[in-house]
Amino acid sequence: MKTVALLSQKGGAGKTTLALHLACAAKASGLASAIIDLDPQASAAAWHDSRADEEPVVVPLPYTRLAQGLDTARAGSFPQRLPSHGRGIPHPEGQKRV
Ligand SMILES: Nc1ncnc2c1ncn2[C@@H]1O[C@H](COP(=O)(O)OP(=O)(O)OP(=O)(O)O)[C@@H](O)[C@H]1O
Ligand SMILES: [Mg+2]
Repeated sequence: MKTVALLSQKGGAGKTTLALHLACAAKASGLASAIIDLDPQASAAAWHDSRADEEPVVVPLPYTRLAQGLDTARAGSFPQRLPSHGRGIPHPEGQKRV
């Protein structure tokens, strides 16, 4: 699994836009990709919700759960279709949802 982190303290620098484009480009190349959205504004998740296509998967997480999110991605356990009641992921230690 390759992990790409897009970070900048500067607002409006294009982090979200670049992440979405990279994920879509990966999908167009036949690669599975998932976006972990650590921004409390969750604008990547809002973008996902505005689309009919479920992929790329977008998983909003609090930054304190990044390690678990990466573990879940490594295990290939991000669901293709996320539950409509919450855009959580299965917790690695059980059925708890984050
Ligand atoms: N390469 C680009 N050329 C022109 N406009 C761009 C480019 N990348 C992003 N933008 C525009 O810049 C604005 C900010 O982009 P974006 O929301 O991706 O930034 P961000 O770094 O994620 O912001 P925030 O810090 O608020 O999360 C958006 O209106 C976006 O459409
Ligand atoms: Mg952003």
